[in-house]
Amino acid sequence: MANTTDPELLLGRAFLKSDRWNEWRAGDNDQKKGVPAPFLEKPIPVGAVLIDLPAPAALGLGQVALIDVINRRRSHRKYSEEPLSLAELSFLLWTTQGLQEVIKGGEATRRTVPSGGARHPFETYLGIDRVGTLVPGLYRYLPLEHKLLLVEAGAEVLARIDAGTNHQKRGAAVVFVWTAVPYRTEWRYGFLSAKLIALDAGHLCQNLYLAATAIGAGTCALDAYDQLKIDAAIGVDGTDEFTVYCAPVGKILAAAE
Ligand SMILES: Cc1cc2nc3c(=O)[nH]c(=O)nc-3n(C[C@H](O)[C@H](O)[C@H](O)COP(=O)(O)O)c2cc1C
Repeated sequence: MANTTDPELLLGRAFLKSDRWNEWRAGDNDQKKGVPAPFLEKPIPVGAVLIDLPAPAALGLGQVALIDVINRRRSHRKYSEEPLSLAELSFLLWTTQGLQEVIKGGEATRRTVPSGGARHPFETYLGIDRVGTLVPGLYRYLPLEHKLLLVEAGAEVLARIDAGTNHQKRGAAVVFVWTAVPYRTEWRYGFLSAKLIALDAGHLCQNLYLAATAIGAGTCALDAYDQLKIDAAIGVDGTDEFTVYCAPVGKILAAAE
């Protein structure tokens, strides 16, 4: 086993450890101080264009054996030109961030994925190219309402998102861009939050892999994106909200990689 004294590697390893829980229990945080809980989702701007999504329970999608879906899950980097339907996008959004219950007097939510302390620190942005009759452009998912919010219409923002993913969009019908709003977790977990947020992100993407597989689509987890470019493309500040994970999604050809 190689031993390291490289401070950067040691810093990374320290991030992965969970050795400060006693310190957290004994310490203070905004929740203990009585600071009101942060918003469960980013506010909806006045006059925003909202798009209804088909209700997840009525979709009838994903009625396939779990063992089969897990067995077939693969990273796909080639997509067909076929669009996704709005129902399929609704299904993918519900499986990755879908709301089940508002709990703790409105301070937290239960969703289709787990999250440390039920803090759910993510926002979902979508670079939509071909989904039903939606105008191509940048959208944000509203899990509390199960609706889409149009952020910016047009092909130009899709080109910026493609550049932001280091051109890993590869003809996908839609690109998921997940941001973290760290304070949602920090409000309760303070210095423990970074690891919790990173762990939480994995759950979203795994559900996307499985849900995409179940509807004959494919995805590929992307961490090798360009932080500054993608944050600028979707219009987030890079400090209090920034991209943590991306995933293009498209229908796949049976033999496609
Ligand atoms: C955290 C994470 C980051 C990844 N980032 C990229 C990426 O930026 N580009 C890419 O082509 N694949 C990326 N992948 C996909 C992996 O290369 C892929 O999961 C791996 O090769 C195994 O293939 P499989 O998913 O088909 O089992 C990433 C996967 C994970 C879990």
